[in-house]
Amino acid sequence: MANDVRPKSLARIKTAAQAKKYIDAQVKEIQAQVGDGKVLLALSGGVDSSVCAALISKAIGKNLTCVHVNHGLLRKGEPEMVCKVFTKQFKTNLIYVDATDRFLNALKGVAEPEKKRKIIGKMFIDIFAEEALKLKDVAFLGQGTIYPDILESKDGIKAHHNVGGLPKNMRKFQLVEPVKFLYKDEVRVVGKALGLPESMVMRQPFPGPGLGVRCVGAITRDRLEAVRESDAILRAEFKKAGLEGKVWQYFTIVPDFKSTGIEKGKRTYAWPVVIRAINSVDATSATPVKLDWDLVQTITKKITTKVPGVNRVLWDVTPKPTGTIEWE
Ligand code: XMP
Repeated sequence: MANDVRPKSLARIKTAAQAKKYIDAQVKEIQAQVGDGKVLLALSGGVDSSVCAALISKAIGKNLTCVHVNHGLLRKGEPEMVCKVFTKQFKTNLIYVDATDRFLNALKGVAEPEKKRKIIGKMFIDIFAEEALKLKDVAFLGQGTIYPDILESKDGIKAHHNVGGLPKNMRKFQLVEPVKFLYKDEVRVVGKALGLPESMVMRQPFPGPGLGVRCVGAITRDRLEAVRESDAILRAEFKKAGLEGKVWQYFTIVPDFKSTGIEKGKRTYAWPVVIRAINSVDATSATPVKLDWDLVQTITKKITTKVPGVNRVLWDVTPKPTGTIEWE
C-alpha cells in the first residue's frame, strides 16, 4: 500500500461537527478520484463496510453498486436490515446474493474450525468476484479498510483481507478507501453523522465467518437455526434490560452434543445453548459480565421453550485467557 500513514493534519474525530467536516472532505476526494467512474463494494453490513458504502453513496450516488452476499451465517434480521437501509434510505444499487446453499453445502461435514474459516473466506471472495466480473464497466472497488487493519497487517499481527488480500482477477480495480485512516470509534461517529441507524453503527463485533463459528463442529441446518434463534432471544433480552451498547459482546453458541431433559412429562434428548457475555477493550483479553440472575433465568426460559431442539442453557463464565471470546 503506497500511502498508509495517517496524516498528522487529521485530528481525532469525536464530534458530529468534526464528522461532518470529514464527510465533506471525503465526498470531494471520492468525486475527484472516481469522476464518472463506477464503484463496486462488498457490503457485509458490518460497521466499516456500511460507513464506507454510505460515504461513497453520498459522493457518487447511483455510480456505486453494493454486493451483499448472504452466506446463511448472519444473525436473524440482518440481511433484511442491510437491504432496507441501503435501498430505501440511501437508494443505492444493491445486488443481493443469497448463497446460503452454496456455503452450507461446502461446509457439510467439516468440523475443524480453521478449515471452516478458510472455506467461508474463500467462497465469500469467489462469489463477490463472480458478481464483480459480471459488471463490465466498473473500474473501482470500495473497501471499508480502517486504520487498525493497516497497522495490524504491517506489524504482522493479522493478515487482513482488506490489506493486500485481493485475488489476482480483482487486482485491475483501483481501490477507494474513504475510512482507511480512521479508528473504530471515529468510524462510528462518521456513520452516525451520515444518518446510518444506531443499531448498525453501534453494532457489537461480529466475526466474518458469522454464526458458523458458533455452531460448533460440523454445521447442520437445524443446529444453525438454534444458534440464530437463541442469539435473537439473547439480544432482545439484553436490549430490554438496557444492556445494548453497554456490554462489549454477547451471543450464544450451540455445541454438537446432546443431553437428557424432560418436557411435559416426556424425556427429551437435545442440545444445550451456551450464553456468553464479555467485556473487553480491544478483544485481546476479556472479562465475563456478571449478569443479573433474573435476566439469566428469563433468557433460559425463553430459549428452552422457544428454540426447537434445545433443552438446556449453560453460561460460559470463562475470561480470556484462558478461553477465547468465540468458541472456535
Ligand atoms: P477471539 O475468539 O479470538 O475473538 O477471542 C476476538 C474477537 O475477534 C472476533 N473474531 C473474528 N472476527 N473473523 C472476524 O472478522 C474471524 O474469523 C473472527 N474470529 C473471532 C471475535 O468475535 C472477537 O470479537
